[in-house]
Amino acid sequence: MRPAIAAGLVLLVSQSGAAAEPDQGAQLAATCASCHRLDGGGTGIPSIIGLGEERLKSALLAYRASERPNHIMHAIALSLSDEEIASVARYVAAQGK
Ligand code: HEC
Repeated sequence: MRPAIAAGLVLLVSQSGAAAEPDQGAQLAATCASCHRLDGGGTGIPSIIGLGEERLKSALLAYRASERPNHIMHAIALSLSDEEIASVARYVAAQGK
């Protein structure tokens, strides 16, 4: 019985490890969606659908560094690590395709 449980645990851990990245992107994008509609519709706030991964990433980095001035996006980008910016950019860029 014990070895089977241990094997199951190893499987669970390795699976959640593999799924971590896309999940993180989706979770972070859910916070963006409260302002940016992820279906590409206009609301007055610019759509972030169709920008592409590199543009998303460089925009977030520019907001974080205050190179691109905007209080709202600066605060949001400031809360994201480089890794989080990369995964949210990858996730958002894959939407609307
Ligand atoms: C509280 C509302 C709000 C949230 C939440 C928010 N944004 Fe924004 N975002 C804005 C506004 C407002 C602008 C326009 C700023 C400007 O004029 O530069 C903007 C601009 C942008 C731009 C630039 C678009 C362009 O056309 O160049 C990108 C990229 C972006 N946001 C990505 C994100 C991502 C990714 C998230 C989630 C991690 C996010 N935003 C969360 C309000 C928000």
